[in-house]
Amino acid sequence: MDINTIRNQFPVLDQQVYGKPLVYLDNAATTQKPLCVIERERDYYLHENCNIHRGVHYLSQKATEAYEHARQTVADFIHAKESREIVFTRGTTESLNLLATAFEHLFLDRFVPRDDAKRQSEMKVLVTAMEHHSNLVPWQQMVQRHHGQLLVVPMDDNGVLDLEQYERLLKEGPKVVSIAHISNVLGTINPIKQMIAMAHQYGIPVVIDGAQSMAHHPIDVQDLDCDFFVFSGHKMYAPMGIGGLYGKAEWLEKLPPYQFGGEMVDTVSFEKTTFNVLPFKFEAGTPNVGAALGLETAVQFLQSLDRKAVEAHETQLLQAAIQQLSEIEGIRFIGQAEQRSGLVSFIIKGVHPYDLGTIIDKMGVAVRTGHHCAEPVMTRFGIPGTVRASFAIYNTLEEVDILAKAVKKAATMLR
Ligand SMILES: Cc1ncc(COP(=O)(O)O)c(C=O)c1O
Repeated sequence: MDINTIRNQFPVLDQQVYGKPLVYLDNAATTQKPLCVIERERDYYLHENCNIHRGVHYLSQKATEAYEHARQTVADFIHAKESREIVFTRGTTESLNLLATAFEHLFLDRFVPRDDAKRQSEMKVLVTAMEHHSNLVPWQQMVQRHHGQLLVVPMDDNGVLDLEQYERLLKEGPKVVSIAHISNVLGTINPIKQMIAMAHQYGIPVVIDGAQSMAHHPIDVQDLDCDFFVFSGHKMYAPMGIGGLYGKAEWLEKLPPYQFGGEMVDTVSFEKTTFNVLPFKFEAGTPNVGAALGLETAVQFLQSLDRKAVEAHETQLLQAAIQQLSEIEGIRFIGQAEQRSGLVSFIIKGVHPYDLGTIIDKMGVAVRTGHHCAEPVMTRFGIPGTVRASFAIYNTLEEVDILAKAVKKAATMLR
């Protein structure tokens, strides 16, 4: 795998900021897009643009076929059994809101009116201490509307989940378990296969937040046996505004629709509406067709790479970063699990993360600083925020050197 050849497919990387070559290390926030993805979306608007599913004319049918082909490509990529198990959404956040709302209505339908005490005692959802706000707030708001409870699996000082506590919390009878595959702050790769199997022993469905994993590790939803898997296209080399929700067909059949309107209906009268079949039941309104086609191309781009070599390359970048940054006096890594993905979060004694990020930006190095939409993780570690460098396939060891030198220089200036 030749990184320079891959890198050449990302024109945005070839630029200077403040007179220095751009070193883009904010990939956990969003990855850059290869030319093939940009061209696919452009091509759609140049030659194929049309509303889908309801046109009898040539272009509409062509766009519909392309959109459904994209769905099949995504299904194959994560080894879903059928393409109707893939719902296109705007991304991870929308997928999780869809699930929290749909589960809320599913549970409420099961309670007889006025059976409030039962409802309150049963509205529990289990998440972990390392969730992004997207996998926390929708569930929290949902359980709070019914005076229920959010159960939280704790983690240790290395950022590793406590599986004994997890087992104990499963016994409290949550209705749903929703966990990050990979923490966007700590880089921890959670043992999701084991955690899914444990939840299933209690008959509890499991949602996996795959926002940080799709681009970096092969995903097989049948092997994992997860009930749902959600992701964002823009974190896996695809355009913004598209993402997905995988759900086992039997679960998606059971869940009520999330949004209402065109496309998701079968028959409508003033008295009654019946709903469309899967996956259209969950896709109300005109979808982002161009972005879905861009997502398909991003998947094909990933499929063209040796995924094991991608993992190895990103691990090598991570190890080099840890090794070089360790030399800095007063550095503290936040997240030191053995099973790590390609990102590193740290703070330096006496240096505010924001100041450090601002200074190294002037040296051309783009990192993220702050709480990374995971405030409870900051509270857990007693810090205001971190500096986070996150890697993607096009990053190089030279860029890691530049990062380490820039951080050293900035830390000296700020102390
Ligand atoms: C673990 C995790 N979950 C959810 C999200 C939300 O993704 P999006 O903003 O694309 O919906 C992110 C984004 O950073 C994330 O890292």
